[in-house]
Amino acid sequence: MVGVDLGLPNFDDTLDELSLLAQTAGLEPVERVTCKRKAPDAALFIGSGKADEIKMLAQQVGATEVLFDQSISPAQQRNLERHLEMPVNDRTLLILEIFAQRARSHEGKLQVELARLQYLSTRLVRRWSHLERQTGGAGVRGGPGEKQIELDKRMISDSIKRTKERLNKVKKQRQTQRRQRERRNSFTISLVGYTNAGKSTLFNALVKAKAYAADQLFATLDTTTRSLYLGDAQRSVSLSDTVGFIRDLPHGLVDAFAATLQEAVDADLLLHVIDASNPNYLEQIEQVQRVLEEIGAADIPQILVFNKLDALEKSKWPPNLSDWFELKDAFAESVKRVERVFVSALTGDGLPVLREHLARHAAANTSADDPQTSKAVALDTE
Ligand code: GTP
Repeated sequence: MVGVDLGLPNFDDTLDELSLLAQTAGLEPVERVTCKRKAPDAALFIGSGKADEIKMLAQQVGATEVLFDQSISPAQQRNLERHLEMPVNDRTLLILEIFAQRARSHEGKLQVELARLQYLSTRLVRRWSHLERQTGGAGVRGGPGEKQIELDKRMISDSIKRTKERLNKVKKQRQTQRRQRERRNSFTISLVGYTNAGKSTLFNALVKAKAYAADQLFATLDTTTRSLYLGDAQRSVSLSDTVGFIRDLPHGLVDAFAATLQEAVDADLLLHVIDASNPNYLEQIEQVQRVLEEIGAADIPQILVFNKLDALEKSKWPPNLSDWFELKDAFAESVKRVERVFVSALTGDGLPVLREHLARHAAANTSADDPQTSKAVALDTE
């Protein structure tokens, strides 16, 4: 696993997340290498000296593949593979691979397929312009391989069109289901959060159902919804577990998963689950907030659920909240407004308090916009 520090804010010097992603994809991380560069090398992304070093190290530890934490171009990928004499992939490809392995529902599978095709098509376009340059600059037609690439492009764009059509059909079905739920007038809560924050564990603890929880990224790819009993709350409450968010999610995937995340967009309340034991939890909050903005869910009321209380030393609890008051821009503003709850989904600590918050939200929402209930209240006062 290779991390190249280009002075960008997301540089992960521990490569922990890449390692977890690799394990999730079924790979076994054996060695980590980091280096610093002002800019990526055009041909190899890293310097050729570093590439030699990696090649030697890979041989020593018996590695069969090299993974880059940063996005490498198709040309760099090819050059590196030639230089290192083994497959080279990057974080984006790894995430696409995991999504492809894990999608379960029909809709999830179609979405991943679409993202892969879209990714492939951008790679082809880039490779194509690269070839075009080799054969004498833009505007020159008929270079070697151009016909094949044109054919590939057409095939991919046909597949993209077909996949989109199938996806639209599935989306319509989902909308119908949602409308039926709305008619039942239930209060909907969606769990959102960075991948591995503990959403599925919290979901299970709250509904006492078994959704899949694992120390892997993206254990949940499709939305699961269950009804939630909150004591004497008058209205049915439904809780949805959603796909985990992650930084630099390949762009096609953000678009493609908008439908899965539609549950979150339509929710009355978001439970933003945070792994407070992760040293990067502030950055993760910010990443999740960014995705919520992208999908148009930034204005939905949020409860920040600081999870994994049990994994923190008592002295470090609660986490230093002044830290995140300093988070920049509009994000800080929105964070100050939301409620905070501290829990351990694993031990159950803090869950009664969380339930109280949920019940209060559900009840407040009921009196505000449920014509049935407001009528009952009006009758009562008469
Ligand atoms: P994605 O599907 O990747 O989005 O993950 P998720 O957010 O659904 O996380 P999940 O519930 O699968 O939990 C991830 C890991 O964190 C699992 O190993 C859980 O056992 C662990 N975990 C969840 N909650 C807690 C907690 O309160 N304390 C501790 N110590 N571990 C927890």
